[in-house]
Amino acid sequence: MAMLEFQNVSYQYPSEDFDIIDRLSFSVEPGSFHCIIGVSGCGKSTIFRMTNGLLKPKGGTILVGGEPIDGRKSYCGYMPQKDLLFPWRTVGENVALPLEIRGGRSRAERRDRAEAALADVGLAGCADKMPHELSGGMRQRAAFARTMLTGSDLLLLDEPFSALDFLTRISMQEWLLQQWQKHRKTILFITHDVEEALFLSQSVLVVERTPIHELSDVPVPAAFPRDRSCLKERSLVELKEHLIDLLRKQVAP
Ligand SMILES: Nc1ncnc2c1ncn2[C@@H]1O[C@H](COP(=O)(O)OP(=O)(O)OP(=O)(O)O)[C@@H](O)[C@H]1O
Ligand SMILES: [Mg+2]
Repeated sequence: MAMLEFQNVSYQYPSEDFDIIDRLSFSVEPGSFHCIIGVSGCGKSTIFRMTNGLLKPKGGTILVGGEPIDGRKSYCGYMPQKDLLFPWRTVGENVALPLEIRGGRSRAERRDRAEAALADVGLAGCADKMPHELSGGMRQRAAFARTMLTGSDLLLLDEPFSALDFLTRISMQEWLLQQWQKHRKTILFITHDVEEALFLSQSVLVVERTPIHELSDVPVPAAFPRDRSCLKERSLVELKEHLIDLLRKQVAP
């Protein structure tokens, strides 16, 4: 059974006169890792906002674990494109937020779970710090710990590393692959960085045109565990050029 399935899903923003998502169908297998690439404004984040229930489709059905998402809670973890952590809460309180929303746990219990999740992402002892006291990479890891605490098997990560400097970004990519291999969650990851998409994905889902009617599924011919040297292999170098060409066709006048 697919972890996530879109069946003929459409969406129209109220201020627009067309469906930006137009009868889109695709599915994602449990435990897989896919990046989604496509030009700016093509509707990638809209797909995530519908999947997590922030936007309601105009038509079609979204299934997670074989069940429609309507009325469900905590079935996916979502890391938005920006505004990751609330600046007025400590790191620990930020990470504990999904537990607070779900209810049923004491403050001490939430704190213990948050501290364990922080330790798991290499941020032991950071619970009492404020977000501004962490580096960009540390903030991303704290946000990831919070996403993990939703307890869901499906993680939606929207350009999580785009604001990081190059070296931090590549070490976060390696770190994320390790997390994925450890926890075996299903990860969908939006990026503009084609190399990042190739390094992380089993297959890349490409938005070739808007309105989005389909996602082209482009397999990445490299085994896991991976290291960055695979990016130098001829097949991946050619695939990178192919993907860049696909994206450039859309921005060409
Ligand atoms: N609240 C809104 N009301 C009307 N139009 C919107 C709204 N939010 C987004 N859009 C439009 O819908 C389109 C898709 O937006 P979306 O955020 O999904 O794009 P994206 O592919 O994630 O882009 P980027 O790569 O720049 O993040 C854009 O053209 C945007 O202008
Ligand atoms: Mg976006």
